[in-house]
Amino acid sequence: MIIAKTVAEMKKARNALKGSVGLVPTMGYLHEGHLTLVRRSKAENMATVVSIFVNPTQFGPGEDFGKYPRAPEVDLEMLEKLKTDVVFMPMPDVIYPPEFNTWVTVEKVTERLEGAVRPGHFRGVATVVNKLFNIVRPDKAYFGQKDAQQCVVVKKMVSDLNMPLEIVIVSTVREPDGLAMSSRNVYLSPEERKAAVVLSRSLKLAEDMIAGGEMNADKVREAMRSLINREPRAFIDYISIADGATLDELIEVKKDAVISLAVRFGRTRLLDNMVVK
Ligand code: PAJ
Repeated sequence: MIIAKTVAEMKKARNALKGSVGLVPTMGYLHEGHLTLVRRSKAENMATVVSIFVNPTQFGPGEDFGKYPRAPEVDLEMLEKLKTDVVFMPMPDVIYPPEFNTWVTVEKVTERLEGAVRPGHFRGVATVVNKLFNIVRPDKAYFGQKDAQQCVVVKKMVSDLNMPLEIVIVSTVREPDGLAMSSRNVYLSPEERKAAVVLSRSLKLAEDMIAGGEMNADKVREAMRSLINREPRAFIDYISIADGATLDELIEVKKDAVISLAVRFGRTRLLDNMVVK
C-alpha cells in the first residue's frame, strides 16, 4: 500500500496504476460504513485509492474541525487489510496553499437542509471533492447514502461540469439497533447513544406509513416528529420529505423521494435518511 502525502506523490502513484481506478474520499476515523465503500470500489475496479483528509473548509467557525476524531494509524491498518492500493493523506496546506483562491459553488440544492444550517459547508465539500477528482483522476468515486444531500450536490457538480467519472452511491451501513454509523457517534454519552435509535425508528415508521398507503407528506412528517419528541434527549433540527434530485419539499410522497432528518443530542448533531422505494 502506497501512502502519498503530496500532490506529486499522489499523481506519481496514480500514473503507476493499471486499469480502472476507484476513489473513496473520507475524513478518516474509519468505520464499517467507510470500509463498505472501499470494498465496493475494490470489487468494481482494478485499483482503489482512499483519501483521508479532514477538510477544514467544510467546517463552520463554531464547528468541530479542531476536535474532529482522528486515528490515522488505525485507519491505515484497516486499509492495509483491505488491500487498498493507495492512500492519499495530505496536510491542509497541500490542498490549500496560502495563495488558494478558487471555489466550486453548487447553487440551489445547497440552499436547504444541511446547507441552511451550515453555510459554506457544501462549497468546502464541492471544492475538495473536485480537487481530489483532478488529482486522482478516478473512473468511479464512491459516496455513502448516509449523507444524502452531499450525494445530490456531488452528482449535480459532476453533471453540470461534465466531469469524466461515474458517481456510485452506497447504502447506509447501520449498527445492530439501526443507528447509522458515523465518526461523530463517539461524541454521544451512553444515554444519548441509546436515545439516538429514534432517528432510524422514525424512518421505519415513515416507511411503514407509506407502505400502508399514506401519501400525505405532512402526516408522515408529523408522525415522525411526535415519535422523536417522546425522547426527551432529542431536539429536532429538521424533518424533510423532498424530491430526490432537486431537494424541493414535497406535499405528496412519491417514489425516489428522500426522507431526511437532523436531530441534536446535547452538542452532537446526527443525520439519517431513507429513499422512498
Ligand atoms: P466522511 O464523513 O468521512 O465520510 C466519507 C464517506 O463515507 C462519505 O461518502 C459518507 O457518506 C460515507 N459514509 C459515512 N458513514 C456511512 C455509513 N454509515 N454508511 C455508508 N456510508 C457512509 O463525507 C465526508 O467524509 C466528507 O464530506 C468528504 C466527502 C470526504 C469530503 O471532505
